[in-house]
Amino acid sequence: MARGRKLIEQEWRALCRVEEIEDGESKGFPPAPGGFTGLFGVRKGEKVYVYVNACPHIGVPLNWRDDDFLTLDKIRIICASHGAEFKIATGECLHGPCAGEHLEAVTVDIRDGVVYVPPDAGL
Ligand code: FES
Repeated sequence: MARGRKLIEQEWRALCRVEEIEDGESKGFPPAPGGFTGLFGVRKGEKVYVYVNACPHIGVPLNWRDDDFLTLDKIRIICASHGAEFKIATGECLHGPCAGEHLEAVTVDIRDGVVYVPPDAGL
């Protein structure tokens, strides 16, 4: 177990500290080294949901402005291009041109207040 944890610390990508995302807000992250597609996270309390920043509709990034991935009321993720809205907890598109499809979820491991994702997330 301890060896497995050590492996994660060495190989998984540290995105940020949990408190760097304001509770109820979102934050974008650049692609992993060698990649083209970034990630974004949404914080709900001590939980952080991370998705690949590509809309299921046509694959473009969801945001037009840094860290801006949520509806005005902050209850859903929204794609800036054509307005598709997604559940924060599951990434399911509730309405819009890709209704019923899902954002690509990224496995998250939060340890010691740091958000880690697999090194190949978004590649
Ligand atoms: S690209 Fe996202 S809704 Fe069209």
